[in-house]
Amino acid sequence: MSNSAIAVSGLRKTYGDKVVLDGIDLDVRAGTVFSLLGPNGAGKTTTVNVLSTLAKADGGSVRVAGHDIATEAKAVRAAIGVTGQFAAVDELLTGYENLQLMVDLHGVSDEDGKRTVAELLERFDLVEAAKKPASTYSGGMRRKLDLAMTLIGNPQIIFLDEPTTGLDPRSRRTMWSIIRDLVADGVTIFLTTQYLEEADQLADRIAVLDQGRLVAQGTPDDLKRQIPGTHVRLRFTDVSQLDAAARLFPDTTRDDEALTLRVPSDGGTRSLRALLERLDEYSLSAEEFSVHTPDLDDVFLALTGHATEVVAK
Ligand SMILES: Nc1ncnc2c1ncn2[C@@H]1O[C@H](COP(=O)(O)OP(=O)(O)O)[C@@H](O)[C@H]1O
Ligand SMILES: [Mg+2]
Repeated sequence: MSNSAIAVSGLRKTYGDKVVLDGIDLDVRAGTVFSLLGPNGAGKTTTVNVLSTLAKADGGSVRVAGHDIATEAKAVRAAIGVTGQFAAVDELLTGYENLQLMVDLHGVSDEDGKRTVAELLERFDLVEAAKKPASTYSGGMRRKLDLAMTLIGNPQIIFLDEPTTGLDPRSRRTMWSIIRDLVADGVTIFLTTQYLEEADQLADRIAVLDQGRLVAQGTPDDLKRQIPGTHVRLRFTDVSQLDAAARLFPDTTRDDEALTLRVPSDGGTRSLRALLERLDEYSLSAEEFSVHTPDLDDVFLALTGHATEVVAK
């Protein structure tokens, strides 16, 4: 237990007569990244809100940084930082002023505060932007500023609620590298995401949340063993072509009705060329050819037998 940053057992949360979290058990080791993966409406934000003491649980027990959220909320709050799904940045203030506000809130001394703010601006590449109001920032800059503000309290455990949703690929990668640096510094990260790739890239352990229940938990490799990996999908015009192609490649999965064949592949140009040459060699031609990278839908289909359901907000 001493190595546990977050320990959750039988957590329940209801809003009115709607059960939002229906008995959640999880354990997050200190110094690791734990990712809660789920579609919109699954209960990710609710989980973050309860674990970070922003909302009250209706059942079960939760310890964060060794403290009970129900009886030691203050100690929990002192140990954590939360970067919400909707940035807590004050639009009217400049980046610098937003950070300075956090310095004042945490009662950091003037000198330490100035140094910390300067370091954070440098680290998050916000030195230029610091003089401008946050309303002029891009989504990625706003997320970085929000996280920088969270770091001023020196939290041991950081909750990141969908930190990259809506960001362009470049800003997403920047955020990933910031998260990796934080973990290297010994911080524990509780990250929610709708992206399988993100959880795969960052997390030591992933839990899959579906309508308030965890449907799977394990390392990224554990999960990937349960879902189809990257593959090429070929569609043929008739069954004889499909038959012939299925004999050419190992470990394929076929759908006779759709006349499609799923061939495992890394999706790289070299293996794609080899695959096409092989087909050509046997005078087979596919009607349709697509490279498919597994996403959240594949995870849900494989783990629950149903597609992701978007719950009305
Ligand atoms: N304050 C609230 N009052 C009533 N229902 C809520 C409240 N917050 C969340 N919910 C409901 O709980 C479910 C889970 O929401 P949420 O935790 O925000 O999911 P996620 O973050 O995974 O998208 C949704 O059906 C949502 O409508
Ligand atoms: Mg949410």
